[in-house]
Amino acid sequence: GDGSSVPRMYVEMLEQPAAVERALRGRLDDRFGTAHLGGLNLDARELRAIRRVKMLGCGSAYYVGQMGAALVEELARVPADAEPASEFRYRNPIIEPDTLYVAVSQSGETIDTLLAVEEIRRKGGRVIGLVNVVGSAIARACDGGIYLHAGPEVAVASTKALTNMYVAFALLALQLGRVRDLSIADGKRLVNALAALPAKIDEVLKLEDRIAEIAGDLAGAESMFFVGRVRGYPVAREGAQKLKEISYRHAEAYQTSELKHGPLALISPDVPSIAIVPDDELTERNVAALHEIAARGGPLVVVTHEGVDLGELDVRRIDVPRLERELDPILLTVPLQLLAFHAAQSLGLDIDKPRNLAKSVTVE
Ligand code: BG6
Repeated sequence: GDGSSVPRMYVEMLEQPAAVERALRGRLDDRFGTAHLGGLNLDARELRAIRRVKMLGCGSAYYVGQMGAALVEELARVPADAEPASEFRYRNPIIEPDTLYVAVSQSGETIDTLLAVEEIRRKGGRVIGLVNVVGSAIARACDGGIYLHAGPEVAVASTKALTNMYVAFALLALQLGRVRDLSIADGKRLVNALAALPAKIDEVLKLEDRIAEIAGDLAGAESMFFVGRVRGYPVAREGAQKLKEISYRHAEAYQTSELKHGPLALISPDVPSIAIVPDDELTERNVAALHEIAARGGPLVVVTHEGVDLGELDVRRIDVPRLERELDPILLTVPLQLLAFHAAQSLGLDIDKPRNLAKSVTVE
């Protein structure tokens, strides 16, 4: 309507539960605890022959690729990693026949990712696409893939497409796992968790008022850290990226475990840290690192689960709902979208048109 219309990013954030439902439709098999991904063009024998999985994408798609690699390793016990597609092609990569390459892209038009796909195929490798835009250049260049079904995404800062990338990785990891050693019980546990994900994302979105208040305070800081470890680290990277993209605040992502090896020198009352502290086997170690930050006067925002004991620490906490551990990263990411959004909003910035950025970069 008038000039004060709601930013697209906001609309797209709120669409996430519905977008996840679309990504899951017809793909969950609760009888056998697995996923059906018709477009992969890989049969069970071919899936079992995969010895390694490599994710390639740019920007946020690369960070979700890191999350996806962790999922594949956890559920399928196949070695997996992620690399920026923009770097991959320039190091004369070794392409192996028993590696599954996964190109990750909302637009399906990002030139760096497309060129990586073409390089792999030229060298005889097999690539699947995790792509949102049907019939896009990357989708056409791949051997098969998983469409994200997020619906049109217009805001430069990606939200629902990223969430659906995570869901697509979960489905892929589930299917890969079930043709290998993942038990039917674990498969069913994940199928149920995925079916419950839209409602859990809704719960996170309801934390908006609290997150907006925290974001308003953070927006005054010149610089901040986002820290997490293992499955929390790509979450921290994505959180820092979002904040940089739309609020133009300096944000640096670090492994919580690496703070003491350098950046702790920069912690001060002027430098807040946003810490990702899920309830998992690393909680105690994470909390110990929070004490190191607090001892230097660093303000703390902790994205965690209800019931996690943060001791005497003076922190502002954002409690996300619990689901299954494998799906924690996506539920921990959604509050960081809201955080970046409200930081930018409180600074009066044009959220859908961040300076110097384009929705998709189609020239080298
Ligand atoms: C960047 C955008 O240029 O491209 C990011 O600024 C985006 O927001 C990245 O994540 C990848 O885009 P796509 O379309 O390949 O997922």
